[in-house]
Amino acid sequence: MQTLVVYSSLTGNTKKVAEAIYEVFGEKAALFPVEMAPAPTDYDFVIVGFWVDKGTADKKAQEYLKTIQDKPVALFATLGAYPDSEHAASSLKNAAAFLDASNQLVGTFICQGKIDPKLIEQFKNMPGNHPHAATPERMERYKKAASHPDASDLEAAQAIFADIKNSLNRVAGQEKGEVTAS
Ligand SMILES: Cc1cc2nc3c(=O)[nH]c(=O)nc-3n(C[C@H](O)[C@H](O)[C@H](O)COP(=O)(O)O)c2cc1C
Repeated sequence: MQTLVVYSSLTGNTKKVAEAIYEVFGEKAALFPVEMAPAPTDYDFVIVGFWVDKGTADKKAQEYLKTIQDKPVALFATLGAYPDSEHAASSLKNAAAFLDASNQLVGTFICQGKIDPKLIEQFKNMPGNHPHAATPERMERYKKAASHPDASDLEAAQAIFADIKNSLNRVAGQEKGEVTAS
């Protein structure tokens, strides 16, 4: 199973997760930043990572997602919000909507990623009623995000993608008529 891992990353958070996921697939995988990514056509499985921008995949990732057809696809992302929030779930869902219906979404992973300190400085200058104003609650969340992705995020990503890899290999084996031990 030839696997393609493509990621879009501005400040490196999503890149770190991409590298961890790539390790799971070893020599049968290729890893590319979205700016240099090949067409997905020649791969059996396509994994796309993005940073959450305004509640969905960033623009570059959106464009890449639209090019994929007839593939099993998995998505991963980093964001400033908490990974168990409604915002995280809807960001993944909004990103998945860029996929053509001929694809099959086989898994997702999302974790926090530190927010660019320059952005936080801008938030601090916003009026209190602005949706990004630096309220104590938001400052607390930014502080928590600052240590992510951490080692346990990377381990969690690897565990999820190891499961996905195993189930895709099982399906491929069954299609070839191989007997698999259960
Ligand atoms: C312009 C901009 C918009 C963002 N929008 C969101 C957002 O809507 N929701 C969120 O949770 N985080 C948002 N973030 C935070 C990033 O998604 C987060 O820091 C991410 O880990 C950055 O990944 P990267 O280092 O791979 O670029 C935004 C960051 C930037 C710079």
